[in-house]
Amino acid sequence: MKIHGRHYRSIWWDREAEGARLINQLALPFAFETLLIRSPDDAAQAIRSMAVRGAPLISMAAAYGLALGLRQDASDAALEQTAAMLLATRPTAVNLRHVLETALQHLRPLAPAQRPAAALDLAAELADEDVALCRAIGEHGLPLIEAAWAAKGQQGRVNILTHCNAGWLATVDWGTALAPIYAAHDRGIPVHVWVDETRPRNQGALLTALELGWHGVPHTVVADNAGGHLMQQGQVDLCLVGADRVTRRGDTANKIGTYLKALAAFDNGIGFHVALPTPTLDLRMDDGLREIPIEERSADELLWVTGQDAAQQTHTVRIVAPGSPAANPAFDVTPARLIRSFITEHGIVAPAQLAQLPRRG
Ligand code: MRU
Repeated sequence: MKIHGRHYRSIWWDREAEGARLINQLALPFAFETLLIRSPDDAAQAIRSMAVRGAPLISMAAAYGLALGLRQDASDAALEQTAAMLLATRPTAVNLRHVLETALQHLRPLAPAQRPAAALDLAAELADEDVALCRAIGEHGLPLIEAAWAAKGQQGRVNILTHCNAGWLATVDWGTALAPIYAAHDRGIPVHVWVDETRPRNQGALLTALELGWHGVPHTVVADNAGGHLMQQGQVDLCLVGADRVTRRGDTANKIGTYLKALAAFDNGIGFHVALPTPTLDLRMDDGLREIPIEERSADELLWVTGQDAAQQTHTVRIVAPGSPAANPAFDVTPARLIRSFITEHGIVAPAQLAQLPRRG
């Protein structure tokens, strides 16, 4: 993706600094900063603090973190311990486990002396693969937007509602749910995106709005509660969201609030589509409501909000009555019956086809 004319990925290997460099998402949208990770602990800290976030990107930070750890100690014990430590950073997005298991399978049979270089090559390969998967999701999702445009007689604009940030900042490049939107915009289809602010961390308002703006895609940030109303008013043609874990039957964990949008879309006969690369599939699970672990994050994310004043000074302020406790489940599960289609790198599929998709590992 291009930021002010320069091409970036969200993570890359910095040869000179001998570490992985990431765009620090905690600084966005007010400042553009990169963050260098030089150890597995740096990677774990970046994931936990959400300096890096989004299911695919978390897994890439872990892949580089593992490679960096093997530079310090490439023994069998260190390999297993570092992978376990990275796996424990965030529980819901399955891409993390997928990448770490892929790395372990690849690295266990190697002699310790070969592991550091092999792990670094694998991390780079997986990052390139993520870019290719997301680009393919964009191409396969494009016909949904073309169909919406045709259904409107090519009048006005195609209004798409999205939740959280499933764009290039959440992946290595292109994004998942936003990839078809970029593809449509680049082909001249007039798209407009309703961006859910996505409380409590505001990934929509802070990140999705920013990257859509960088790409020149018309968009409007709306309160999380506005989606149902917009759908009733005929102002949403389709919903496109990403995923953190999709089970065999298609139950989908994604950012908290996704389920409510899917319910509203179902009630209004609006297509609700989930974009996912196959590393987001968890074929070991079936009933998402019962089986997917839902991350509980700090109540402080709800109690406090950080932003800038008119003089561009950053402040963190409390927005909840002093003394009131808060709960912060970070994801919810949308049952497969509410999802019209899954957009994968292999094409658009129905839930029943998910388990048959070819995938690495
Ligand atoms: O808590 P986050 O910001 O990591 O949650 C991210 C999401 O829920 C995204 O929608 C999901 O990871 C899909 S990213 C391509």
